[in-house]
Amino acid sequence: MKILVTGGAGYIGSHTCVELLNEGYEVVIADNLYNSSEKAVGRIEEITGKKVVFYNKDIRDAEAMNEIFSSEKPECVIHFAGLKAVGESVQKPLEYYENNINGTLVMLDAMRKNGCKNIIFSSSATVYGDPAFVPITEECPKGKITNPYGRTKSMLEEILTDLNISDPEWNVILLRYFNPIGAHKSGLIGEDPKGIPNNLLPYVAQVAIGKLKCLGVFGNDYDTPDGTGVRDYIHVVDLAKGHVKAINKIKENPGVKIYNLGTGNGYSVLQIVEAYSKACGHAVPYEIKPRRAGDIATCYADSSLAKKELGWEAQYGIDEMCEDSWRWQSMNPNGYND
Ligand code: NAD
Ligand code: UFG
Repeated sequence: MKILVTGGAGYIGSHTCVELLNEGYEVVIADNLYNSSEKAVGRIEEITGKKVVFYNKDIRDAEAMNEIFSSEKPECVIHFAGLKAVGESVQKPLEYYENNINGTLVMLDAMRKNGCKNIIFSSSATVYGDPAFVPITEECPKGKITNPYGRTKSMLEEILTDLNISDPEWNVILLRYFNPIGAHKSGLIGEDPKGIPNNLLPYVAQVAIGKLKCLGVFGNDYDTPDGTGVRDYIHVVDLAKGHVKAINKIKENPGVKIYNLGTGNGYSVLQIVEAYSKACGHAVPYEIKPRRAGDIATCYADSSLAKKELGWEAQYGIDEMCEDSWRWQSMNPNGYND
């Protein structure tokens, strides 16, 4: 079975391509390399010993998308391509709506024209806003989203659901990711953010390697055990494997399905600093800063539906996530730019 992976050179996409190839799927990547490197594609091939077909194309390019679908004839799309920086999306809403919403519409049109009606979409726990309850089940109502990035995810969930209503031949799996961290065991692929990282783990990793001086901990007065924010960190390889399971599901023509992909465990910022310090062998310096606008206190998943219906469950714990992140960071201090 052939899978088109949009955004397949990116962080989660590259790890998913490895798992797909390991399970015997044929993989075609479409990525405009806006936030990634073609080197990741070579590394995917190095890890798996298998070839991928790579198109350096933008999903907003209707002609290119049509050409890819008509020549490759993928049976399913895993759709990662998009912009994802929360803070930037507040500054550049038009760019975010244009890339994420318009890009997806253009790609969906090419899918429809070429009779490919199976899609697995990268959604996010962000659609729950400040969650009505934790652990968060898929029944938890969507909440007030505080930024344009999150709104693109929520809108795209609706758009994809509308597609299935218009034509039940469409199968749509919406995967709501919690906080992916870590890297492949080989140390060959991992997260390579451009500029100063926004997310906790890449920031901690760059402090640990000495590229940044000190981590700012955004608030220690939340209603959590140690006052710092609590999140459900999930190993990116576990997340990648969730996509392979979702493909098995999509083969059953399930219509629209929603699954949380998390571990069910919440860790605070200070617990992450401690686990990372252990992984890298020295203390990671930090200082307490004011809260970051838009942040919530606590977010972690109930992933029992994914376990029941996909046969998927996260395997890795926080220590391994930090060890694998550190291996990638120390083997590639400048990411793919070495
Ligand atoms: P990433 O930036 O590493 O990967 C996204 C990839 O899409 C990049 O390789 C980028 O070059 C490509 N891309 C962007 N716009 C494109 C376009 N118009 N045409 C073709 N390619 C394009 O991000 P990631 O962390 O791997 O995230 C993958 C997906 O998962 C995104 O949709 C993101 O919103 C979603 N997600 C990520 C997280 C997270 O914490 N990393 C959490 C929830 C959801
Ligand atoms: N944090 C710090 N210092 C930093 C960065 C983060 O203390 O330099 C804290 C935050 O305040 C929060 C925790 O670390 O308590 C995690 O923050 P991240 O920025 O790593 O992750 P978020 O939970 O804010 O959001 C991420 C993605 C979203 C996605 C969401 C899914 O950025 O796109 O996970 O749960 F939707």
